[in-house]
Amino acid sequence: MIITSGGNSIKIAKALARQLKAVYSPLTISSFPDGDIYLKFNTALKGKTLVIVQSFQPHADQSLLRIFFAAKTAKDLGARKVILVAPYLAYMRQDTRFHPGEAISSRIMAEMLNKSVDKIITLDPHLHRYKSLKEIFTIPAVKITANEALAGYIQKHCTNEIIMGPDGESYQWAEDIARRIHIQATVLHKTRFSSRQVQVKMVTPIPIKGKNVVIVDDIISTGHTIAEAAKQAKKMGARSVTAIGVHGLLVENALLKLKKAGVNTVITTNCIEHPTNRIDITPLLLRELRKER
Ligand code: R5P
Repeated sequence: MIITSGGNSIKIAKALARQLKAVYSPLTISSFPDGDIYLKFNTALKGKTLVIVQSFQPHADQSLLRIFFAAKTAKDLGARKVILVAPYLAYMRQDTRFHPGEAISSRIMAEMLNKSVDKIITLDPHLHRYKSLKEIFTIPAVKITANEALAGYIQKHCTNEIIMGPDGESYQWAEDIARRIHIQATVLHKTRFSSRQVQVKMVTPIPIKGKNVVIVDDIISTGHTIAEAAKQAKKMGARSVTAIGVHGLLVENALLKLKKAGVNTVITTNCIEHPTNRIDITPLLLRELRKER
C-alpha cells in the first residue's frame, strides 16, 4: 500500500502510513507557467493499492482536479486499486437545483470520482436530500462518522451540558452523541434565506437555563448557523456555549462572528487543519483502512 496526498491532509496521510506500516510517498504538484496543472508520482505503483488522503478544503475545486489527475495517472501507471480517503468531501450541500440553471455540484463531483477512483472513504458527508452516498456514487463509498470521537471529547471536557443541533439535518450528530453519553439533546429548526442568512427556532423546548450548551454540526462554514443557535441558547439562559464542528471550514471571519454571538469555545476535528482542531479522527480512518490490508 502506498499513501499519498494531494496537498491537503498531509499530517493525517503520514500518520496513517506510519500506523499501517505503509510507504508515504509525496506527489510532486506544481503549475506550468500558464497555470496548467503538473503532477508526478515519485514511486512505482504497478500492482499497488494507492491511498490518496485529501480533504477538499482548502481549495475544493483544486482538490477535486488533483485527485482526478492523480487517480487517473495512478491507474495508467499500473496501480491495482485507488482509494480516496476524503476526511471532508465538498460539494455535498449543492444536492439539488435550488434555482433554475444551477449545477447540481454533488452529482458532478461524484461522477468525476466514479470515473477515476475505485473506492471512497469519507467522514460525515453532508447527507440531507440524499439519504445515502449510493445515490450518487457507483463505486464503493464508505461513510464513517466522528460521533464516537465527539462524544468522547464532550464527556471528557464538559459538565452539566446539553447538546443542541442547530438545524433539522443535525439530528444525525446531536441525538446520536447525546444518546452515547446519556444526556439531553434538542434540535432547532432552521430557515435558510441565503448562504449568509439563516434563522433558527426551537421546536422541542428543553430546559437550558444554567446549562453548558454544546452545539454540534457537521460543517461550520461562515458560522451563521451556529451563531444563530448560540444566540437562542444565550437568550434561554445558557451558562456557556461550546460549538463543535466535524468540518471546520471557518470562512469569512466565522470565529469572530461566533464570539460575538456568545460562543465561548469553538472545537473542530482535524478533518480540515485549523487552530481549533482538538479531536483527532485518524483512528477512525485507520480502522477502516485496516480492512484493505
Ligand atoms: C448545512 O445545513 C450544514 O449542516 C451546516 O449547518 C451549514 O453548512 C453551516 O454553514 P454556515 O456556517 O455558513 O451557516
